[in-house]
Amino acid sequence: SLVHGTEIFQAARAGHYAVGAFNTNNLEWTRAILAGAQEKNVPVLIQTSMGAAKYMGGYELCQQLVEATIKSMDITVPVIMHLDHGNYEAAKAAIAAGYNSVMFDGHDLPFDENLAKTKEIVALAHPKGISVEAEVGSIGGEEDGVIGEGELASVAEAKQLAATGIDFLAAGIGNIHGVYPANWKGLNFKRLQEIADAVSLPLVLHGGSGIPQDQVEKAISMGIAKLNINTECQISFAKATRKYIEEGHDQNDVKGFDPRKLLAPGTKAIQDTVEEIIGWMGTKPVK
Ligand code: G3H
Ligand code: ZN
Repeated sequence: SLVHGTEIFQAARAGHYAVGAFNTNNLEWTRAILAGAQEKNVPVLIQTSMGAAKYMGGYELCQQLVEATIKSMDITVPVIMHLDHGNYEAAKAAIAAGYNSVMFDGHDLPFDENLAKTKEIVALAHPKGISVEAEVGSIGGEEDGVIGEGELASVAEAKQLAATGIDFLAAGIGNIHGVYPANWKGLNFKRLQEIADAVSLPLVLHGGSGIPQDQVEKAISMGIAKLNINTECQISFAKATRKYIEEGHDQNDVKGFDPRKLLAPGTKAIQDTVEEIIGWMGTKPVK
């Protein structure tokens, strides 16, 4: 069933585990994420970037798709429908469309404006029980047109954002969207510790794909309660699809042009990736 995020992520931070937040793109992606979470019997967060929501036909359609898919698949684990890296307009639109949770990403605004707009989004979201994520510092790299410099989060700003009443906080700690460069220096654990000491909210680790498992586990033990994964599912999907085609299933073969057959290996690969990540993330099963 669809639920709000606050309690699930508070329990995760208190229990030193994380809940997976996976980006969706379409029906197949949505089904694969839900099936993986159901198989593992854990809560899960499904998120759409602004770009994915546009691709899929808008926030209302995204919300309705997830809700209907949960119903048709008899999904019993808690599911949180979340907006990933939304600007001010997107956050308002997702709230109006019935999302359970929204990220207002104001990293590209002057900090005072990020703070003021975050407050406004909290005021719109909370009366409806919708949780809010905000961002301090920035995530390096690019995701669906959202570009960050990888600016290290300031502890003072983290405290100020936390005081707006948000439910979880994403902090730039050296993490990067997309594939990590070979010369990446790793997560900044010193800064993560300082933020975790200053802010009791569940913390969010963006750019979860490609961070070595030991670093993610350490970050979770320090207060990361939401782990965002996008690229890893995309790579799994693309690899499996490419392998299937390279095995000779091309346009001359019904197995190569029937969309239901063509998309099946990639969809299965997304589910496998979701289950694998949930497995080592240590998400507590639903009782
Ligand atoms: O907001 C989504 C995540 O931060 C995904 O990052 O594509 O590097 O896994 P990723
Ligand atoms: Zn992100």
